[in-house]
Amino acid sequence: MPTLEDPVRLATEQALGRHAGQPGNLMPILHDIQHQLGHIPEAAVPMLANALQLSRAEVHGVISFYPHFRQAAPAGITLEICRAESCQAMGANALIDHTRKKLGCDFHEHSTDGKVALEPVYCLGLCAQSPAIMLNGQPHARITPSKIDRLLAEKGV
Ligand code: FES
Repeated sequence: MPTLEDPVRLATEQALGRHAGQPGNLMPILHDIQHQLGHIPEAAVPMLANALQLSRAEVHGVISFYPHFRQAAPAGITLEICRAESCQAMGANALIDHTRKKLGCDFHEHSTDGKVALEPVYCLGLCAQSPAIMLNGQPHARITPSKIDRLLAEKGV
């Protein structure tokens, strides 16, 4: 049995308490836990299974079925790469290949060190300066693989 960190136990108990007795309450409980902790930690699963008289596999099944639910803490850095037409015409695919290799992950995943969440975006309004990316909400234009390396290095990646 995994040792529960106190914040996980607290968040899970609070979510269970807020939705106690409601039919079909697993979904609102999961949303509640993710809202509190930013993700649904593994340690919450046995507590939920016991409290709701479900198997751990059933709880896991729901968490993994819905892409909205995160099983790992959100990464500190979010890198969005534009995949829309103008950026594609200006080399976004090569940029995407380079970034996937560098981070060791695909879109909708975290880098192998867990620091970077890689996400696609569809037009940042910078088409005249393609290809474009967004790094932690900050747009950058005319991006090359070496520029992306430099921007990530500035963030400690
Ligand atoms: S297509 Fe990439 S910014 Fe518009």
